[in-house]
Amino acid sequence: MINKIREHFTATRKRTEELCKPLAIEDYSAQPIIDVSPPKWHLAHSTWFFEQFILVENVVNYKVFNADYAFFFNSYYNNVGERVLRPNRGLMTRPLVAEVYDYRRYVTEAVNLFLADDNNCTSEILALLELGINHEEQHQELLAYDIKYILGHQPLFPNHKNDMVFKPIEDSPEFLKIEEGLYTIGHQNDGFCFDNELGVHKVYLHEFEIAKNLVTNRDYIEFIEAGGYDDFNLWHAEGWDFIQNENIKSPLYWHFTEGKWHSYHYNGLELVDPNLPVVNISFYEAAAYAAWKGKRLPTEFEWEIASGKINWGQLWEWTGSAYLPYPGFEKAPGALGEYNGKFMVNQHVLRGGSIATANGHTRITYRNFFHPNMRWQFSGIRLAK
Ligand SMILES: [Fe+2]
Repeated sequence: MINKIREHFTATRKRTEELCKPLAIEDYSAQPIIDVSPPKWHLAHSTWFFEQFILVENVVNYKVFNADYAFFFNSYYNNVGERVLRPNRGLMTRPLVAEVYDYRRYVTEAVNLFLADDNNCTSEILALLELGINHEEQHQELLAYDIKYILGHQPLFPNHKNDMVFKPIEDSPEFLKIEEGLYTIGHQNDGFCFDNELGVHKVYLHEFEIAKNLVTNRDYIEFIEAGGYDDFNLWHAEGWDFIQNENIKSPLYWHFTEGKWHSYHYNGLELVDPNLPVVNISFYEAAAYAAWKGKRLPTEFEWEIASGKINWGQLWEWTGSAYLPYPGFEKAPGALGEYNGKFMVNQHVLRGGSIATANGHTRITYRNFFHPNMRWQFSGIRLAK
């Protein structure tokens, strides 16, 4: 068990750096919009998390790498103190990228040294370590989104070599029927989970049908060509305002050039492949598409119960469910109580996992969440009725 966690730690630290390897030094500091953090910031922040919550609090006489880094690289933990505010992350051209990589090495080595002594590996420390690993895996996924945004908004549309590719969906659309009944929701085994999955409880579901596959680009182009973006009857009021104000007429990264839809996905600007799942979709667009089809999005509970029968894992899937605490949800005391609970307002739950999700990171009870207008994440659409 201890060895497995040690290996997971090492592999996770390595994968984050692998994701950044194809970047040019100039790419590391860009913050084109508030929601996109500079890659350098992710590299440092995921390191600060281990330093702050494991080393500072548990290693006798631990010497922090740089006393200013807590201020530079704390994200949103008010319990840990003041910090550089989110919109200003891109202003930090210093510390240098090389210094951030030194910081990573310093902390990785200190954690390894601490864990080398079995006496230090108490169940509390291992739980913190697992949280730190899962936290870094979440930042790997954000890095994938942020790198795509940074490069996908360059006039040159540069390549970024990685293995995050979508698989075609070629089956005919099929809906699966799920019987009505009383079902159990929430994380029930001994493996790691986030606090927002706890509070196992029963939910009564009426009979419903859920699509076996995600909506494809082909399906979505039909929606565009049918005037889906021009028909206010399909949209939530907020969604209609959003697409008007932002002048949105297609998914993020789509460009209509030379009479055809093209999109950016790490490999330069390419023709949209009709068989791939449609990606980079806001909740508003997902809901409008479902309304146009005379259907709806599944609730997060329907998704969890149907998960064994549907094809999932390519994209995070918008659900119709608001991100709320489960019955009995409890915030952990102190800073780590800020991890999930304080975001349980005005966001929607997404279920599944994506091509950018680290192996083994997600599970059927995993609750991802974003504001309904966000679409730089790898989000897609599954229909229900
Ligand atoms: Fe974080």
